[in-house]
Amino acid sequence: MPQKQRTVTLIDNETGKQVELPVHVGTHGHPAIDVRSLNKALGYYTYDPGYMSTASCSSAITYIDGKKGILRYRGYPIEQLAEKSNYLEVCYLLLYGELPTPDEFETFEKSIKEHSMLHEAMRGFFGGFRHDAHPMATMVGVVGALSAFYPDSSSVHNREQRLLAAHRLIAKMPTIAAWSYKYSTGFRFIYPRNHLDYTENFLRMMFAVPTEEYEPDPLFTKALDLILILHADHEQNASTSTVRLTGSSEANPFAAISAGIASLWGPAHGGANEAAIRMLQEITESGDLQKYVDRAKDKNDRFRLMGFGHRIYKSYDPRAAIIRKTCHELLDKIDSRNTPLFETALRLEDIVAKDDYFIERNLYPNVDYYSGIILSAMGIPLSMFTVIFALARTVGWMSHWNEMWEDPESRIGRPRQLYIGEKKRDYVPPEERGA
Ligand code: ACO
Repeated sequence: MPQKQRTVTLIDNETGKQVELPVHVGTHGHPAIDVRSLNKALGYYTYDPGYMSTASCSSAITYIDGKKGILRYRGYPIEQLAEKSNYLEVCYLLLYGELPTPDEFETFEKSIKEHSMLHEAMRGFFGGFRHDAHPMATMVGVVGALSAFYPDSSSVHNREQRLLAAHRLIAKMPTIAAWSYKYSTGFRFIYPRNHLDYTENFLRMMFAVPTEEYEPDPLFTKALDLILILHADHEQNASTSTVRLTGSSEANPFAAISAGIASLWGPAHGGANEAAIRMLQEITESGDLQKYVDRAKDKNDRFRLMGFGHRIYKSYDPRAAIIRKTCHELLDKIDSRNTPLFETALRLEDIVAKDDYFIERNLYPNVDYYSGIILSAMGIPLSMFTVIFALARTVGWMSHWNEMWEDPESRIGRPRQLYIGEKKRDYVPPEERGA
């Protein structure tokens, strides 16, 4: 916990009682008032639905400044990591706090490769799902089931066991994700291959079939690796907070991550790139792009352009600025002008950039707009978009879960409430009700 550097005094205007509350100042960002003594001193709780003004923990992993469009992992700007690093190196950085030396990276990569296979008995889990199961549904179940295969991971106070669980999960997620997809299509599972790097391996498990080898296109591999880097962590969002809260009861980490995946699945969290592509499909089919732009600007219409704007990034989304270039490179390569959906995407991007409504409100395509287009261009089906997000975010979740256990101030999460229900009343027998 950072040093207490100043205080604020809270006075109860009704009773005249007051309490001096410490203010914690972090490295950057908003200072936080420490309200832990508030209830004892004045008898109040704080009220903050959605936790929009609440720092639930202190963390040294990721820093975001939404106004300035800043995202940093362990202090390193996302722009530099996107240009110079790779996803697996970013995993090491998030998990251990420092960039690896060449030897450290080699050891880490070897460990990840060694853990990429699933226990053969886990194959049976996939077969238990309906043939048309959504791959996210399969993933929630299979990741939770890992806790049955690795009960040693429940030793959450043992650092070695925690890091082993992190290695296992980072390693197995591509296999689980690809097998979830293979199962939903009825194709045979493809096993990981150690001579390939992390991202190539995932692409091969997705697209290879027993009758034909798959050579990942280097541009696809680069684009996917970039998507994984950009989605690796985003501090205390809904799914990360879910992992921390679930894990705070000392639950097995695989069960906690399964809860995080469930949270990510919701359309308000991980589903934005899928929604952007569905919207582009609808616009393309209608053939009337301007109608949708007008609807987005109409105050009486609830329609919004999916993949535009961001709750946190109000000037620009730094991840979008990075990924836009790769998206355009990819679309040039596949000759997007002949693909109506991508043509719509580029035209919409262009219209919005020149329209005063969007300019005045700082509305620009966000990372989900471009990642949705890239994944579509790579031939990845819509149902896999959130699965790939979950794969990328696993290291962020595990880093936060591990950080929670290293923080002496961590305790089981237990929010309070403002009760607004009935006052005490006596039980009414059935025959006397409704009279
Ligand atoms: N299309 C059209 N108008 C928009 C859009 C949009 N996508 N987004 C915001 N606006 C308008 C609003 O109507 C509002 O206009 P007003 O000032 O005339 O009332 C103004 O821009 C400000 O919008 P807010 O609703 O205050 O912005 P907020 O921060 O609440 O919403 C959000 C952000 C939810 C992301 C919104 O931009 C949106 O719905 N975008 C589309 C969905 C999407 O792509 N989501 C992925 C983002 S991932 C994330 O945010 C975690």
